[in-house]
Amino acid sequence: MQNPFKPTAGATPPDLIGRAGLLDEFEYGLRQGSGAPGLLTIITGARGIGKTVMLSAAEDIARDQGWAVISRTANPGFLARIGDDMLRLTDELGDGPPARKITAFSAAGFGLTTQIPQERIPDWRRTGEDLLRVLKTRRTGLVITIDEIHAVDRAEISQLASDVQHFIRDGLPIGLIFAGLPSAVSDLLNEGVATFLRRADRINLHETATAEVTVSYQELFSKGGIEVSPTLVNEAAQTTEGYPFLIQLVGYYLWMEAGKAGWSLNQDNVATAIAAAQRRNTLVVVESALSDISDKDREFLNAMAGQDGPSTAGRIGQALGSKPNVVSKYRNRLIAAGLIESAGYGKVDFAIPGLRQYLRG
Ligand SMILES: Nc1ncnc2c1ncn2[C@@H]1O[C@H](COP(=O)(O)OP(=O)(O)OP(=O)(O)O)[C@@H](O)[C@H]1O
Ligand SMILES: [Mg+2]
Repeated sequence: MQNPFKPTAGATPPDLIGRAGLLDEFEYGLRQGSGAPGLLTIITGARGIGKTVMLSAAEDIARDQGWAVISRTANPGFLARIGDDMLRLTDELGDGPPARKITAFSAAGFGLTTQIPQERIPDWRRTGEDLLRVLKTRRTGLVITIDEIHAVDRAEISQLASDVQHFIRDGLPIGLIFAGLPSAVSDLLNEGVATFLRRADRINLHETATAEVTVSYQELFSKGGIEVSPTLVNEAAQTTEGYPFLIQLVGYYLWMEAGKAGWSLNQDNVATAIAAAQRRNTLVVVESALSDISDKDREFLNAMAGQDGPSTAGRIGQALGSKPNVVSKYRNRLIAAGLIESAGYGKVDFAIPGLRQYLRG
């Protein structure tokens, strides 16, 4: 059996741990059609927490229900590319027999690569309307997913929002799901570029329970014929802290070590796998998360790393020699960026495993 783990951004894992029920509202919305609240959903969470994977899961659900899906990443010109996708879908629908299954377009970059010129915007809306009317007669609709909303151009997103709002007002069957870092989403909603998005359903993704990770590992290892004691599986699961990217990394290296060791894992193999997973996590997640923060943010994080466990604002302020309002400003920024999270009673803790150790080292 091939290694089932997928420690790659956006790759669907062998087992979607801890996400049961999160897309129920969306699924229900698809059955209700136009205007259902679940059809407007925003997925937020820290890096590597599983946002892109959730978008894929939503796309699968939509396709299963016969809906058309357009899947895009929010880089400049994405609106024009959605317009292209809509044109292609309309063509496909026009030519094919009525029951023809619609498939999503890949994100391969064909079509326009620039923003839509002003005079083409009415076309965009008309294209959307035409497509949605056809889909409506077939009792389905269109779901548009947009990933990495942090990279979005404000003009494009507000254009998209106003068109989608217009489609909804006309009773047309459209669904819109965004995914992005909490910071990007709260900025977007606060800036008022797309006020109607404030009514969207919010799915805020967190780490999963390590007990669920243990169960999932046990099942996958036993399917793969790998012998390992429950204590070791549990130990490995604990080190992931329920963090999805780390779940995949640890699983991946455990599988790899098992392959070298005659499909059975002892304490040493497990320790080697965990160390490899942690190194890779540091390289991929921690360093990239730290690459775009300011020096002040970094000082704040260093002050936190100097303490064990959750930190209080008071102690961070002391370490930095900063006033409470300054501390609170950086605290909010770092929470919004998905690097730290509130840990109750004015405390914060790191939101990315390995970040504390990295900063100390
Ligand atoms: N529920 C889950 N259970 C187990 N593994 C998961 C789960 N969700 C995501 N993963 C795995 O975690 C990794 C990160 O997932 P994904 O790329 O969706 O995260 P993301 O939030 O989009 O990250 P980024 O902010 O970097 O775009 C992938 O390897 C994926 O297979
Ligand atoms: Mg992603």
